[in-house]
Amino acid sequence: MKIIVTGGAGFIGSNFIYYELKNHAEDKIICLDKLTYAGNLETLAEAQTNENFKFVRGDIADRENVYKLFEAEKPDIVVNFAAESHVDRSIEDPELFLRTNIIGTSVLLDACRKFGIKRFHQVSTDEVYGDLPLDRPDLFFTETTNLHTSSPYSASKAAADLLVQAYQRTYKIPATISRCSNNYGRFHFPEKLIPLMIINALHDKKLPVYGKGINVRDWLYVDDHCSAIDLIIRKGTVGEVYNIGGHNERTNLEVVKTILKILGKSEDLIEFVTDRKGHDQRYAIDPTKISRELGWTPQTKFDDGIKQTVAWYLENRAWWEKIISGEYKNYYAKMYDNR
Ligand code: NAD
Ligand code: TYD
Repeated sequence: MKIIVTGGAGFIGSNFIYYELKNHAEDKIICLDKLTYAGNLETLAEAQTNENFKFVRGDIADRENVYKLFEAEKPDIVVNFAAESHVDRSIEDPELFLRTNIIGTSVLLDACRKFGIKRFHQVSTDEVYGDLPLDRPDLFFTETTNLHTSSPYSASKAAADLLVQAYQRTYKIPATISRCSNNYGRFHFPEKLIPLMIINALHDKKLPVYGKGINVRDWLYVDDHCSAIDLIIRKGTVGEVYNIGGHNERTNLEVVKTILKILGKSEDLIEFVTDRKGHDQRYAIDPTKISRELGWTPQTKFDDGIKQTVAWYLENRAWWEKIISGEYKNYYAKMYDNR
């Protein structure tokens, strides 16, 4: 099997590449990635030593190059991770999100239509369902929950999901979609909540918690997301959507306090800052369908996964120190100074 993994130099895509190389040594993996600020070739250094792995730099919205790649490689499966993925950046500048997340997905779908494919898998997010109220812990997102987006990021991901479904119905593209909750683990870009808080705490810098810190996210260890996608592309039913999540709901404040406790740092580092615009209150996935139909269960509990993640950031300082000493400094100043 030959698999094109788009966005494989980012957080989840790279973890997925390592998962596939380990668990399906017979398969060939081609990573197509534009190497935006979030893409990092150093993350793939170990994969580059595997003869079944190849890296190609390119933009999923660049039709000519995408077609050339499909024509040359004739992939069996495409797993689309490539995206602009940060909600705060989408609030600052929506347009790039539309280009990559919507146009990019449509170009990949057209390539599948033109050259043929056994499976196209769209890596989507629970954010397409909008949010749940904090005072209704009985409510969860299921695959039939209406799409109801809040941010330019989630709107662009929902648009891509609708395109995938339209191509599946109209052109019979054998497509599947997964909608996962918040991931955490190694190679997570420092702009996101968990790595940002680990790195700030290590520098005894303030930890900027938006609003009152009461928003709830449903955290899943990245390897569990990878195992779910692996099952869907091999055993999932064409045309279906699968929600992925492990019932690990935490308020942001709980997550931040857990990190401080693991690092032995004071809670005085916490600083409440101006809330995110349109901030989604609660995400919570009902994973019954993927558990029942594909036998998927998450393997890592939050309390273990967060310790492993903190340990990884401690042991891999060079990986993130390089990132935070570059362009990221300007991003951080723009988003957090005087917030
Ligand atoms: P990320 O920002 O860490 O990585 C994105 C990758 O895509 C980077 O390597 C970047 O260089 C690449 N990329 C961006 N634009 C591109 C383009 N036009 N062409 C080719 N490559 C491009 O993102 P992530 O957190 O790994 O998320 C991956 C996917 O999973 C996204 O589609 C996201 O919507 C989805 N998702 C993420 C989470 C989460 O918690 N991070 C949860 C659910 C779903
Ligand atoms: P994030 O990691 O950006 O993921 P998402 O917005 O996709 O859920 O944020 C997770 C939560 O943490 C979200 O409720 C916003 C909050 N947050 C902060 O409180 N402070 C921060 O500096 C960041 C980046 C996020």
